[in-house]
Amino acid sequence: MGRLDGKVAIITGAARGMGESHARIFAREGAKLVLTDLRADMGRQLATEIGSAAIFLEQDVTSPQDWDKVVAAAEEKFGRVDILVNNAGILGPMASTADLTDEGYDQVCQVNQHSVFYGMRAVLPAMLRAGCGSIVNISSIAGMAANYGFPSIAYVASKFAVRGMSKAVAVEYGKDNIRVNSVHPGFIQTPMMVEATDEGGGDALREIPLGRIAAPEEVSALVLFLASDEASYVTGAEYLVDAGMLAH
Ligand SMILES: NC(=O)c1ccc[n+]([C@@H]2O[C@H](COP(=O)([O-])OP(=O)(O)OC[C@H]3O[C@@H](n4cnc5c(N)ncnc54)[C@H](O)[C@@H]3O)[C@@H](O)[C@H]2O)c1
Repeated sequence: MGRLDGKVAIITGAARGMGESHARIFAREGAKLVLTDLRADMGRQLATEIGSAAIFLEQDVTSPQDWDKVVAAAEEKFGRVDILVNNAGILGPMASTADLTDEGYDQVCQVNQHSVFYGMRAVLPAMLRAGCGSIVNISSIAGMAANYGFPSIAYVASKFAVRGMSKAVAVEYGKDNIRVNSVHPGFIQTPMMVEATDEGGGDALREIPLGRIAAPEEVSALVLFLASDEASYVTGAEYLVDAGMLAH
């Protein structure tokens, strides 16, 4: 028996990195999946590999119209929406604050922060119809503290916002049996991380108490727990998966 049997999940940013890992693990645990991303070829390929339990939709998470289409497609194909994993995100320009442009700041906040509002707003009516829901919003250690290797006021602002927005909706919709939690990964081996550091960690590795970068699956294990009914009394909470980075 799968830990997500009977559940329908939307996962954004699912074409690669942690989103892909969440998708594969959710499928293994019995979920029906609506996978979305801007990278349509990779996303379609993943959905094909998973099989009839998954569909892929090209989506820009910064578009409220795209969100309406995704939720409508999920209900049409699978009948309900139980889980949303707001995973899509970007690092954005690695500029110091004095050098960051308006456009750079806005882009990061659109993709990492505003999309989380659009996504929660879009799925809440479907979750109310279903009578339950679990929303997992992917923040970062940069949503808990600044200065973890990537100097970007925009990234830190957007990831702090995700943490607060998660708590706001958890409080507002707790009575409706809709749970909302934020996940705060440390250094995870994904294309984003490789692109950001060239060699997957650099100096930051010395700061990690467990002494290594994580595999995406190590974050998926936590996301799976929060998405599942095993976390039935867990809401409004923030979960570090950072190998002890913030224990310094
Ligand atoms: N990798 C890390 O170490 C790390 C650490 C902390 C938090 N995070 C967060 O985890 C999440 C996943 O990161 P990852 O490392 O897997 O990154 P990734 O770049 O490997 O994957 C992110 C995916 O999001 C998609 N995406 C980007 N902008 C989009 C948009 N506007 N609309 C739809 N899809 C879009 C990309 O196409 C990509 O497939 C992000 O929110 C990131 O900020 C990553």
